[in-house]
Amino acid sequence: MGWTDKTISALVEPNRAHRKAYVDPDLFELEMERIFERLWIYIGHESQVKSPGDYYLAQVGRQPMVMTRDHNGEIHVLYNRCPHRGTQLCSARKGNAGRRIRCSYHAWMFNLDGSLDRIPASEGYDGTDLKMDAPEFQVQKAPRADNYRGFWFASLAEEGPDLESHLGYAKTAFDQLIDRAPGGETEVVGECFHMIQQSNWKIFLENQLDASHPGATHESTGVAAMTVEREMRGVGNEPPVAYGFLSDFARLGIDGWGKFGTVGHPQGHCTLEGYMGLRPDDEDTNEYVRLMYEAYGEEQAEEILGVNLHHVLVYPCLSVQPPLQQLRAVRPLGPDRTLTEIWHFRLKDAPEAIYQRALGYYYLVNSPSTMVNADDLFNWWKVQHGLNSNASDWVSFHRNAGFDVVEDDVRKSTPGSMSEMPMRHMMQVWKNYMASNDGEK
Ligand code: FES
Ligand SMILES: [Fe+2]
Repeated sequence: MGWTDKTISALVEPNRAHRKAYVDPDLFELEMERIFERLWIYIGHESQVKSPGDYYLAQVGRQPMVMTRDHNGEIHVLYNRCPHRGTQLCSARKGNAGRRIRCSYHAWMFNLDGSLDRIPASEGYDGTDLKMDAPEFQVQKAPRADNYRGFWFASLAEEGPDLESHLGYAKTAFDQLIDRAPGGETEVVGECFHMIQQSNWKIFLENQLDASHPGATHESTGVAAMTVEREMRGVGNEPPVAYGFLSDFARLGIDGWGKFGTVGHPQGHCTLEGYMGLRPDDEDTNEYVRLMYEAYGEEQAEEILGVNLHHVLVYPCLSVQPPLQQLRAVRPLGPDRTLTEIWHFRLKDAPEAIYQRALGYYYLVNSPSTMVNADDLFNWWKVQHGLNSNASDWVSFHRNAGFDVVEDDVRKSTPGSMSEMPMRHMMQVWKNYMASNDGEK
């Protein structure tokens, strides 16, 4: 179907969205063009390309990109495409290219900033109109690339708000990932988990701030964790703190998640306030707090640790959980296929026990043997199947609808609710990005 602003707008109503927004292949192409190949999309953390010559691949919308570090230490975001005959330049997910990137097809050589360095047997081009320094013979750069405190993003649009304006309040996610380190730095740990979901990318984003799902979807995990905790205590052992993150699913129950507020920001970013007991009164936490006091002074350290955030969704491409040192990058592959990269970070100079605690959560929630993500993935797959049916055209976001509090373009859920405000908010923002293009209203 040929979509227009008008037909796209009709897919989003205040309290519901049309199923086509999740399943239509033409709309997916428009989403890539108007959202993912236009807004600022997360590429990676600077520590993924630590040394000169390092590169790391990233997907921006439908475009294969590569982040590189040149021999002056500068970071670049390039299209991963040889300007000669189109070959993908870097084929491994990550690596070190040495002094130069050499195309595997005919051995043209490029500097790490994308500039063409040399062509073998170049006399073959004498007398032709190939000019070594012409823009078309350099590896193309992302029109805009920038970083916020070492977290790199690219926008494939020449124009638009700069990165910091786009991030707005979402900058707090990165501030927290860094400032919670007594050493004031953070770095990625090893390799990320790659997870392919057989469902639309928006279903993943909606789920991240869906306070009404954990008590239901993850109830069985919560009960299992509670049982293990009880058994451990029964023989005089204190269970790891990370188990408590899971047993909360059952302890809070389906309606126990209402006390955690959600906020929607104008760019589409959403936040969920903290809910976990992340500051238990144990030796490891107290040692960590002591190191934070030492590094920042008591007042500033309390300010950093007092930020009440569990989840920051950076629209449309990231879900960040700063207190758990975790970040998930969203790479849509098709209307019913989404890749997520799940990264874990180490806080410089934090005690090893604090790192192990966050790592425990990371594995419990994301590893191939997880019971948590497995239940989410199965639900999303079933949602995608259901939305393909003709039973109904609509997806409901009615919970606490009509009671959001809006102040200065910021939308807050009803206090004490498990509101579907984040879903309503994101679909309105989706409509704004998608349906302001052909001048038709
Ligand atoms: S395609 Fe890259 S050198 Fe020919
Ligand atoms: Fe979940």
